[in-house]
Amino acid sequence: MNQNRTPILEAIEAFTEKRPAYFNIPGHRMERGISSRWTDRVGTGIFAYDLTEAAGLDDLHHPQGAIREAQELAAEVFGAERSFFLVNGTTCGNEAMVLSCAGEGEKLLVPRNVHKSVMMGMILSGARPVYVMPEYSERRGIWGSLRPEKIRRAFEQDPEIRGLLLVSPTYYGVCSDLRALAKICHSYGAMLLVDEAHGAHLYFSEKLPQGALRQGADMCAQSIHKVTGSLTQSSMLHLGSARADEGRVRANLQLVQSTSPSYLLMASLDAARYELAVHGTEMMDRAAELAERARSAIRRLPGISCLDAGEEPETFRELDATRLTFSAGELGISGFELQDILYERFGVSTELADYENVLAVITYANTQEDIDRLTGALAVLSGEGHTGRTRIRPLPLPGIPPMALTPREAYFHAKRSVPWREAVGKIAGEMLCPYPPGIPLVYPGEILTQDVWEYMERYRREGHPFHGPADERLESFQIVDKKE
Ligand SMILES: Cc1ncc(COP(=O)(O)O)c(C=O)c1O
Repeated sequence: MNQNRTPILEAIEAFTEKRPAYFNIPGHRMERGISSRWTDRVGTGIFAYDLTEAAGLDDLHHPQGAIREAQELAAEVFGAERSFFLVNGTTCGNEAMVLSCAGEGEKLLVPRNVHKSVMMGMILSGARPVYVMPEYSERRGIWGSLRPEKIRRAFEQDPEIRGLLLVSPTYYGVCSDLRALAKICHSYGAMLLVDEAHGAHLYFSEKLPQGALRQGADMCAQSIHKVTGSLTQSSMLHLGSARADEGRVRANLQLVQSTSPSYLLMASLDAARYELAVHGTEMMDRAAELAERARSAIRRLPGISCLDAGEEPETFRELDATRLTFSAGELGISGFELQDILYERFGVSTELADYENVLAVITYANTQEDIDRLTGALAVLSGEGHTGRTRIRPLPLPGIPPMALTPREAYFHAKRSVPWREAVGKIAGEMLCPYPPGIPLVYPGEILTQDVWEYMERYRREGHPFHGPADERLESFQIVDKKE
């Protein structure tokens, strides 16, 4: 196919060149109806691309023209059997993957570190999760890879399991051995589904781990917006094999996406795919090189350490070099504090922090100046020496709580609110999910154990952000009274 084409951009241009009298939705009529508060700041050009399914612009839910071609071009670039553009992020991609693999009461293997959108998918589908623990680094306080042996054991115990849905790479860039996992899943007639929200760039550089489709994944969802050049909320869902039923996937995508998909988002996917097809290797090699320069500068700074692939090979099978995870724990600075200091004192904005680490996402669009500002700030902190504060160690992660109800049963069950301090031992009616990185400690339907309660209580007291509970201050918590 001709990867120089950008069918959606071209279709929009052909439509707008006619300057049609416009009686469709959206109401702003390309740019005339947008508030001048906004257009004065950003100009009007972009608003002409915010259109709907007008003449020649195709329909995401039944693509026959420009959108279909744009998706086929994407499939070719990523090596997929089929690709679908998503306007509701990888959130809806994960939901559609769950829905397409495991229905009511069917079992899905789910490592505990999956994004909350996987749980949302299970609420929609009624799937019964079988949880497994990935490796965990006590030293770094972050999740590692998923061991194939664990997955083999899970299938041996329960060959009825329909599939495995894991995240690889994780937020911190940790990859699992997808090739081995695919083999195991396929030998049990199950599917390998990969949340590749953080991995769309892996397909373009030899310096990075291999993408999921190249290793045998049956489906994967990618946040093109996170690591390449499309707009926030634009993602892709790829089918890697005929094991995924295309008709079922299409139907499920209709369930989880708007009937008014944004042409701005779709055009941005089209443009991002073009850049990847034509310049992808150069772009991603550059991202890897920038990250490597940052890493080698940070390695020279006393008191600051950087997560390195070789430091715990059993835990971190492979790392995406463009994710820079660093810690100033040895200087008595927690990850949360370091993130604030970097922004407040040095104007350096980073993606996320936890007790120990800060994560900087490095992409092809960063500059050497960005890297110098980050490493320069860390050099100042290193030079200032120890703060004298006691190092806060992450609490040991709580174990997997017992499941009393599936996520769907719990979600639709009547609930009542109890004071948070009385919630231990009760069936959770809502999720508890420190955010970022958005990994639930307890799912609806699980027993809120003492360990989970203590972990969350400390998190809450220290004022860190979390998602899930209706009571945002977590003074009360929704529980389910299970009827026998
Ligand atoms: C691992 C993981 N999966 C899925 C998502 C959801 O992706 P999106 O923001 O594209 O909906 C995120 C978002 O942060 C994520 O970190």
